[in-house]
Amino acid sequence: MTARVGILISGRGSNMQALVRAGGDAYRVVLVASDKPDAAGLAWAAEQGIATLAHSGKRGEREAAFDAALRGAGVEVIALAGYMRLLSDDFVARWAGRIVNIHPSLLPLYKGLDTHARAIAAGDAEAGCSVHVVTAELDAGDVLGQARVPILPGDTPDSLAERVLGVEHSLYPKTLAEFVKR
Ligand code: GRF
Repeated sequence: MTARVGILISGRGSNMQALVRAGGDAYRVVLVASDKPDAAGLAWAAEQGIATLAHSGKRGEREAAFDAALRGAGVEVIALAGYMRLLSDDFVARWAGRIVNIHPSLLPLYKGLDTHARAIAAGDAEAGCSVHVVTAELDAGDVLGQARVPILPGDTPDSLAERVLGVEHSLYPKTLAEFVKR
């Protein structure tokens, strides 16, 4: 059975695009929603013929609108892809165990923001990304998959982010396809 996936974004949505492009027998992206009406990824998704929704209002109203649209579209699993808002405990509870996220660090290292700068400052030899289940606690749910890249001499947060993003785009579709089959 092909799982119906909804994606939440806030920005360019390169991970969302990778998920849409890779969707096959395992899952299909049926809705892309954003808290930012001008998110570049929304226009791209609409061009692909995917239903889109933007809601820039207060969190309660925004999440109610997302929840209604996701349920209306028959979504079974939500993938966060650069969605830069904290979800309320209530929203997470309503979708318990059915929301996943990609985070640009090797969790449990570097939860939260500025992950690449923190990995470089710590002198780490490796960085990477993690796909994890979303729970009420930030970046703390079960890790479903990880990909690693080296940190090279002279790396800046931007150069490292670009290297990590390259592996995000293959890790996320692969991990989501495995997750929806569980
Ligand atoms: C990625 O680095 C992802 O790991 C993080 O936010 C960024 C989103 O980038 N959660 P994009 O919008 O998917 O291009």
